[in-house]
Amino acid sequence: MAARPPGPQIELTAVDKAYAGQVVLANAELTVRRGESVAVLGRSGSGKSTLLKLIGGLDTPDRGAILHGGRDLGAMSDDERTRFRRQNLGFVFQFFNLIPTLTVTENVGLPLALNGYAAGAAETRIAGLLADLGLHAVNARYPEELSGGEQQRVAIARALAHSPTLILADEPTGNLDYETAAQVLSLLSATCKASMTTLLVATHSLEVAKNADRVLTIRGARLEETPL
Ligand SMILES: Nc1ncnc2c1ncn2[C@@H]1O[C@H](COP(=O)(O)OP(=O)(O)OP(=O)(O)O)[C@@H](O)[C@H]1O
Ligand SMILES: [Mg+2]
Repeated sequence: MAARPPGPQIELTAVDKAYAGQVVLANAELTVRRGESVAVLGRSGSGKSTLLKLIGGLDTPDRGAILHGGRDLGAMSDDERTRFRRQNLGFVFQFFNLIPTLTVTENVGLPLALNGYAAGAAETRIAGLLADLGLHAVNARYPEELSGGEQQRVAIARALAHSPTLILADEPTGNLDYETAAQVLSLLSATCKASMTTLLVATHSLEVAKNADRVLTIRGARLEETPL
């Protein structure tokens, strides 16, 4: 399991990002403490996914630094960044991104296999997650045999499997009905809180924001703290 050094989990200093001359983020500054849950609001196209991709090391800033537990993403080689992501981060997306040819158990076990967990430890971990997320009864099914809410719970279990320090969730309930979305979200935030996992959620929903410790808004390329 990854070491968890003290200090802020995420630090952004003077981050700029533009695509083809269009400024998406200008001088973004952010500090997130370990275990905090933060919602990122903003209109469509405001830069929420961009911010998550930068923090997740899936894209690089034009200027500025992004640190995870004091480690600078920009100072890592591509291989180091890939390994860092695999060991420390969990991703949840709007369309679940489950592997259709793998069962629920196999999907949830994927990050454990990639991180070289022993079979016995992986089995125990998977069983615990399936129980926590109410998925025990569907463990042998394939994604297409699940409801949207169940699929998203599998995606959450998979994101948490390898005990990442940070979950990046991009519109994790955008594809679910209101009630299911609310259930999935409270489960996501409760599970993260229980394991001191930092959670960053991009969303259009004020409901999501209510679940979070802090709310950020991106407006006109500015990342601002929004009072709750
Ligand atoms: N790879 C890319 N190449 C060019 N432009 C991009 C790229 N990714 C994003 N953009 C542009 O950057 C802006 C911000 O996009 P982003 O996806 O971050 O917005 P968002 O807030 O997540 O929107 P939504 O709520 O619709 O998901 C948009 O204008 C988008 O078209
Ligand atoms: Mg987006």
